[in-house]
Amino acid sequence: MLKFGGDFVPFVPARAEGSFVYDEAGRRVLDFTSGQMSAILGHCHPEIVATVRSAAGTLDHLFSSMLCRPVVDLAEALAITMPGLPRVMLLSTGGEANEAAIKIAKLVTGGWEVIGFAQSWHGMTGAAASATYKAGRRGYGPAAVGSFAIPAPNAFRPRFPGVSWQAELNDAFALVDRQSTGNPAAFIAEPILSSGGIIELPEGYLRALKAKCEERGMLLILDEAQTGLGRTGHMYACQRDGVVPDIMVLSKTLGAGLPLSAVLTTDAISTACDERDLLFYTTHVNDPLPASVGLKVLEIVERDGLAERAAVLGARLKDGLRALQSRYRWIGDVRGRGLLLGLEFIDEEGGERRSAAALSDAVTDRALELGLSANIVRAGASGGVMRIAPPLLVTQAELDLGLELLAAAMRDVA
Ligand SMILES: Cc1ncc(COP(=O)(O)O)c(C=O)c1O
Repeated sequence: MLKFGGDFVPFVPARAEGSFVYDEAGRRVLDFTSGQMSAILGHCHPEIVATVRSAAGTLDHLFSSMLCRPVVDLAEALAITMPGLPRVMLLSTGGEANEAAIKIAKLVTGGWEVIGFAQSWHGMTGAAASATYKAGRRGYGPAAVGSFAIPAPNAFRPRFPGVSWQAELNDAFALVDRQSTGNPAAFIAEPILSSGGIIELPEGYLRALKAKCEERGMLLILDEAQTGLGRTGHMYACQRDGVVPDIMVLSKTLGAGLPLSAVLTTDAISTACDERDLLFYTTHVNDPLPASVGLKVLEIVERDGLAERAAVLGARLKDGLRALQSRYRWIGDVRGRGLLLGLEFIDEEGGERRSAAALSDAVTDRALELGLSANIVRAGASGGVMRIAPPLLVTQAELDLGLELLAAAMRDVA
């Protein structure tokens, strides 16, 4: 196997069910990352299995210009969940959908400059990679011309203690304005920067960002790959802030682990795309099988009240993690919303906050040996933030088990 991003994990799953994955010997591991932050319904959910079986036997894949019932039904269902963004295109992956969003922004604004956060992750393909600053910029030649980054506000590790996020945002845009050639197209943002270390944008920030975009005639693209479909306690994270972006991108959680993404936008932007002949013609655009899955995922998320469930269970899980924090000084911060939480490891030896990468790695490795899969992201100065994002259908007993396993791993490492 070709390595594509670090080492493979020393656990070989043979099957998965609900919140667990099992190896051939039957050893089970509790999945606290929902696969790749996607499986919000847990693994092999019976209704999704039935949907895939039925779609594969009825309407699987079509000529890209043919529209069919499951695709239009999903588009309508999505439009109802996000008033103001009634125009929908369905694609396969997050990176691909961000490509489409950025292309749309360039086409309708006539600009090409794209701004993102310095801790962002939007995908591995061209324009998405150009707007990804968390990792992977070195070694591949030039990024897209007109790519800019500003720092995301970090309450735990402020760049300039005592400086408000408003002042930081104003300062960042003053710098961008200096560098801009006057052709801004879009700002692309995650409402909670996940790979960047579960950095939450404070309430009010998205509204301020939207205003900055409007002042400059650029579009706000919100990438809700990980935050969409209930994970943060709202159907979409931006709904907490009452902000409707110009373009919203969904992926990971929309297919609950199967490859499905969506671009949602306004009537006005859709009309401008028509006038300018938007081209984003792909093999799997508006494919029926994944659309059937997305429709079922949305139905389950709404029917089973999974956003509310994420809010309630997430608050309890956060309490449990805070209890752990009170026992171990090297847990510097517990943060996040709903069932998208982060635990930042610190090393306070010498009285100074230093990265604790080795410690966070040791805890994660030990947790896996004990039967818990969690994920560490390296985030700027921090060195180690454990991301905790179990399926939204996780039970209280499974969360308790996860906390016990994490506590045991910490005890062993300590
Ligand atoms: C916020 C966000 N956007 C986009 C992507 C890219 O999605 P994909 O890997 O499906 O291309 C990711 C992947 O981790 C992500 O976290």
